Amino acid sequence: MKKISKFILAVTLGTFAFGFQANAEDFPADIKPLMQKYTCFACHKVDARLVGPAYTEVAKKKYSNAKIVELIANPKPENWPGYPPMMALKNVPKADAMKIAAWINSLK
Ligand code: HEC
Repeated sequence: MKKISKFILAVTLGTFAFGFQANAEDFPADIKPLMQKYTCFACHKVDARLVGPAYTEVAKKKYSNAKIVELIANPKPENWPGYPPMMALKNVPKADAMKIAAWINSLK
């Protein structure tokens, strides 16, 4: 329970401190609708830490696209010490998750 309330607090603070819509504007036009539909943008920025790691940091892990798809459905918080755990987003269809994964891996 304690962990969960910390998590919610982090999400709320992240959201208000960084500006909800402003964050969404950072994403390229083809990815932005997915970020909004699945609320990824509430916790992730392209190149800065928010609640979760920057996607440029995720890109540095050199995961395969398939691995990223798997991690969206089954996050492994042990990969990110110092971050709250991401909830499993099993509602993201594979095809959309694959688009997001390919975009993350295109980041430098
Ligand atoms: C409520 C906040 C939140 C939302 C919403 C969220 N994430 Fe995360 N994400 C995190 C946090 C925190 C981490 C780091 C801890 C972890 O992996 O559990 C993370 C980690 C990740 C990782 C790295 C996984 C790894 O093991 O290296 C990827 C990829 C990722 N998120 C993608 C996404 C995508 C894509 C979406 C939308 C479909 C999304 N996230 C939505 C908070 C969030």
